[in-house]
Amino acid sequence: MKQPKPVFVCQECGTQQPKWQGKCHDCGAFNSFVEELAVDPGAGPTSHRYSLAGVVPQGAVKYADIEASKADRISTGINEFDRVLGGGIVPGSLILLGGEPGIGKSTLLLQAAANFANAVGPVLYASGEESEHQIKARGDRLGVGDAPLYLLAETCIERILEEVGRVRPALIIVDSVQTVFSLKFQSAPGSIGQVREAATQFLFTAKGHNIPTFLVGHVTKDGSIAGPKALEHVVDTVLYFEGERHHSHRVVRAVKNRFGAVSELGVFEMTGAGLRPVPNPSALFLAERPAATPGSAVLCCLEGSRPLLVEVQALVSTSSYGTSRRMAVGIDQNRLSLLLAVLEKRAGLHLVTDDVFVNIAGGMSIDEPAVDLALVAAVASSLRNRPITPGTAVFGEVGLGGEIRGVAQANLRIREAEQMGFTRIVLPASNVESEMAEPRGSAPQNAEAGKAELVGVRSVGEALDMLLA
Ligand code: TYD
Ligand code: MG
Repeated sequence: MKQPKPVFVCQECGTQQPKWQGKCHDCGAFNSFVEELAVDPGAGPTSHRYSLAGVVPQGAVKYADIEASKADRISTGINEFDRVLGGGIVPGSLILLGGEPGIGKSTLLLQAAANFANAVGPVLYASGEESEHQIKARGDRLGVGDAPLYLLAETCIERILEEVGRVRPALIIVDSVQTVFSLKFQSAPGSIGQVREAATQFLFTAKGHNIPTFLVGHVTKDGSIAGPKALEHVVDTVLYFEGERHHSHRVVRAVKNRFGAVSELGVFEMTGAGLRPVPNPSALFLAERPAATPGSAVLCCLEGSRPLLVEVQALVSTSSYGTSRRMAVGIDQNRLSLLLAVLEKRAGLHLVTDDVFVNIAGGMSIDEPAVDLALVAAVASSLRNRPITPGTAVFGEVGLGGEIRGVAQANLRIREAEQMGFTRIVLPASNVESEMAEPRGSAPQNAEAGKAELVGVRSVGEALDMLLA
């Protein structure tokens, strides 16, 4: 048999080269090539899709002959987790859960695994990071009890799949995809070849046997799942854990979902007994908001299908050096520069000689344009040292001409602000008009919450007049 030839693979983008190179021509990464052994494409189970023992490979099937699979979703027993997944786990789906080390990936999956084992059937939890005893010690804190949960401290993919054949689980969890390796490759675990092989093998198992599978992925400092963009294409759903380790709350966000809305959010709180779903995240994010302080605005943003109130903070102070500094935490820095330019030019605010710092309280990050109006309001409020009228919430996109543009799903945002007791909402005039055309149907669920006054605005200048007390 011919010896497989070594190839050099870029660990960032997966490009293969016959020789080592200092810089990848495809993605521009430096020093990213690692030697791996090429596999003979004719060998191994990758030669046809989902070719598992017991599954006979077949030709193309007529669309009309395929039985419509019932879109039954299986609950994880944690409502916030079900929400991010789009209503529960779809049978046979492959889900990647990414996040920084120590943020709570293993904790969340162990809790879900215990619920799943109790309600549906056996669960196989394969861990390459912790021993069975360590997992059990954590499980005791989480109250796992005697659910049919099988732990396996193993990193060899072939061994894990053997156990899958033996245990016949209803759910597989692989913690983490960077620690497992296949005997078919000689490269180290965590290299792009290994990670990709792991994803492919578990994909075959998930689809072929209809077993939903979770892969845990570590995220590098720059925020990408280590190694492979390739992995995100393979899996059905990509979830990211966000949040700061020093805060107790955690946010799980769907960044790709073949079976549900993207950017859907689940909010949790890390407690002594694991992750607890937060039923009312707006209350959590507004909890420590200072009353009537300049530089603080309340934004109604929309994450996936969920409206959420968060506090946007700004601090404008005289710059002590020649060049002024602009810093943004939780929103795009370029967006901030753009909005400051709009404030200068269209609202006559003088900011050139000032340092501007903005922050989304509670460690959230927001990338929807509806944040614009809250941001300019907070900056103007801090600059003029005048607080925003108490009880006011705000949302809207700001254009380069200083015009306020309408945003999607205004009625959801308005209802959430009313639920949280806000009495006045400053929003794009176009949204008010469409809101008047189809009135806000039912009364708010919270009996005490009344209808808020809607103040439609057309320009930044008009908005600031309406907002600042
Ligand atoms: P873990 O799930 O091990 O993180 P990951 O798998 O993402 O690396 O979470 C570890 C952190 O969570 C650790 O700092 C301890 C904390 N924790 C609690 O606060 N309460 C608990 O009940 C558990 C199990 C963990
Ligand atoms: Mg872990």
